[in-house]
Amino acid sequence: MSSLLRDLAAAVGEPQLLTDPGLLAGYVTDWTRRYRGTASCVVRPGSAAEIAEVMRCCARHSAAVVPQGGNTGLVGGSVPPPDGPAGQPGQGVMDGGVVLLSASRLTKLGPVDALAGQVTAGAGVTISTLRAHAASAGFEYGVDLASRESATVGGTVATNAGGIHGIRYGPTRAQLLGVAAVLADGSVINRLSGLPAESAGYDLAQLLAGSEGTLAVITAARLRLWPAEPVAAVVLAGVAEIAEAAALYAGLRAAAPGIRAAEYFEAAGLDLVREATGMALPLGRAHAAYLLAELAGTAPAADRLSGAGLPPDAAVALDGRGRAALWAYRERMTEAIGATGIPHKMDVAVPMARLPEFRAELDRAVRAAAGGRDWPVIAFGHIGVGNLHVNVLGPDPDDTAVDEAVSRLAAAHGGSVSAEHGIGRAKARWLGLTRRPAEIAAMRAIKVALDPAGLLNPGVLFP
Ligand code: FAD
Ligand code: MLT
Ligand code: ZN
Repeated sequence: MSSLLRDLAAAVGEPQLLTDPGLLAGYVTDWTRRYRGTASCVVRPGSAAEIAEVMRCCARHSAAVVPQGGNTGLVGGSVPPPDGPAGQPGQGVMDGGVVLLSASRLTKLGPVDALAGQVTAGAGVTISTLRAHAASAGFEYGVDLASRESATVGGTVATNAGGIHGIRYGPTRAQLLGVAAVLADGSVINRLSGLPAESAGYDLAQLLAGSEGTLAVITAARLRLWPAEPVAAVVLAGVAEIAEAAALYAGLRAAAPGIRAAEYFEAAGLDLVREATGMALPLGRAHAAYLLAELAGTAPAADRLSGAGLPPDAAVALDGRGRAALWAYRERMTEAIGATGIPHKMDVAVPMARLPEFRAELDRAVRAAAGGRDWPVIAFGHIGVGNLHVNVLGPDPDDTAVDEAVSRLAAAHGGSVSAEHGIGRAKARWLGLTRRPAEIAAMRAIKVALDPAGLLNPGVLFP
């Protein structure tokens, strides 16, 4: 055993140090299978104090640290960098190699503070556990996503995850009231009081939202909860194109102010879902595109929908079972796409008014980047916040031409190269399409101040 491994075993206890390549494989490969790296070990600390000791060990041995939660991230940020050419260490990796730090054992979940509408959750608590905990006290956690069974509080804070209720409650950043974290030098931050009124300097919790493991290891978060609201209906409507879906969303929003979700998908994605699941066509006939909306409230949906401009071929589900059946067509999209191979996943934000133009130019931009080949383009996403997930199937995993073309197209329309998945390793070289040089310089200055040796997640976020 090397002296690094001996020190780490002393920090976390030998059973929580994994070195067997068979056990490591699942940790060092990302959900999409496009990103894979090398780690000398996985450590699974059980407390902030153990994480602090791990950080001190890694600093002593010049080892990089990759924090990981549920490993459902889609931009390669949760796994170590790939090896460099001729077996050289990966980007930014120092002599001590890479330690993968799993926060999955930090599962402490505090009682719901009903007076404040808040809860403290360990970084390793999954979103489904957090949501169930909130629901048992009459509250709702504002973030929900199809990866809820594995995605963690720490990972969703670190990526500022959005999800299906972003139009109602905002992204993870909007739920975050405080954070506990360990910095690169092993010092511990503990701001979990959740004071609704406080103005005493920099907001360190918000600094860590979207930091993607590059500034600190998050150990717990103080989170806002919302009074649970009943769901009146889920509506699925067939439309001709994205402009019609956006207009229908606006109509529903005006007619039924309690709109909780507005999701878009197209025929190509629906075909993959049906192939993967065997589910029947959801409506009377096939359409070019679809809008799925979830409405809050208890009023009969028909009352609320009159005047919303619902097209004739639409399904309205009122009971829980029917609502879940409609949601499945949207929620199983990622898994269905993954079943076809290793997709190129781009997650762009585009101003709502520019979505039709962006969509109209997308296929041409992808075809040009693919040298004239017609790779399938599967577009879907959270249309209510202008977030489209563009998946291209076919190019070699190492070929980044279509990724770059889609990123540039989003930027040309005044959008962002990342709406909710983060930058990770996948998009680091295109950060400059979204953030100005002065902003990147300020971000780098923060990184250097908090992690001068560059131990935390090298190669992620920064070009
Ligand atoms: P990981 O994948 O383990 O890590 C993600 C990043 O966070 C990495 O950079 C990692 O280093 C860092 N990190 C993790 N834990 C910590 C910690 N404790 N401290 C510091 N840094 C940490 N995302 C959305 O935003 N909206 C969606 O609707 C959505 N749907 C999805 C559906 C499916 C089926 C899948 C597979 C993914 C989906 N995602 C979605 C992407 C993913 O679930 C989110 O990015 C999620 O936030 C990742 O959480 P995680 O715990 O799996 O983090
Ligand atoms: C989703 O909204 O389903 C996700 O963000 C996952 C994906 O982009 O595939
Ligand atoms: Zn999404």
